[in-house]
Amino acid sequence: MKNIGILGAMAQEIDEVKALLTEKTVVKIANREFVVGKIGNVRCVVAFSKWGKVAATITATLMIQEFGVTDLFFIGTAGAMADGLKVGDIVISKRLVQHDLDARPIIPRFELPLLNRTYVDSDPDLTALAGRAVNNLIDKGVKNMVGEEAVKEFNLAPTLYFGDIASGDQFISSDAKRQEILSFLPDILCVEMEGAAVAQVCLEFNTPFTIIRTISDTANHNAHVDFNKFIVEVANAYSRAIVSEIVKLV
Ligand code: ADE
Repeated sequence: MKNIGILGAMAQEIDEVKALLTEKTVVKIANREFVVGKIGNVRCVVAFSKWGKVAATITATLMIQEFGVTDLFFIGTAGAMADGLKVGDIVISKRLVQHDLDARPIIPRFELPLLNRTYVDSDPDLTALAGRAVNNLIDKGVKNMVGEEAVKEFNLAPTLYFGDIASGDQFISSDAKRQEILSFLPDILCVEMEGAAVAQVCLEFNTPFTIIRTISDTANHNAHVDFNKFIVEVANAYSRAIVSEIVKLV
């Protein structure tokens, strides 16, 4: 039987998802709260990953090892890197890479030590399923997700993209840093702080996963302002809607 793990990078976002659970039990391990229960008829475990690659690694490992999740979805926000991406768009991962990993000259820049690869692929079936869930929501209209006021304020007209996501232990908020990352990884769509760590955990444990990120900012000097507003006014509602739709399709 499926036992879906849902991890989120922001406490506020994941609180909205926790509220969807019925028949709940709360388990605390390593300063983390795992809420076990059901959404609809699907068994789920929901947790706040905490921020950054190490924190997310701990949480993802516990999800798999302690709670036996069969599939892992990570949901959160990201800074846009590709031209054309705008706040409110949604990116679902094809591949994950750590933009701050560099063990040269022993191995090439960005390569995962002892894993002989730079990118970790997300599971194609979960990625496609998440895509169908997001497209259903887009078809229903974004104002049903977040309300008309937020649609106006953030100019929301979401487009769904599939592609590469880069993770690192840095909030990217300057044009210089943004350009530096893009000069080495020109094909990435967005940056965040956890996805590639979760991907590596899932690779090692052979657990299917995918990463779903809503663009909250454009990873430049405005990033912190856009990010804080977006989290409060939009991201929570997006997460709740996306997870509700995913469990209908699992
Ligand atoms: N998550 C959301 N926006 C981000 C950014 N600009 N950098 C890193 N992680 C993010």
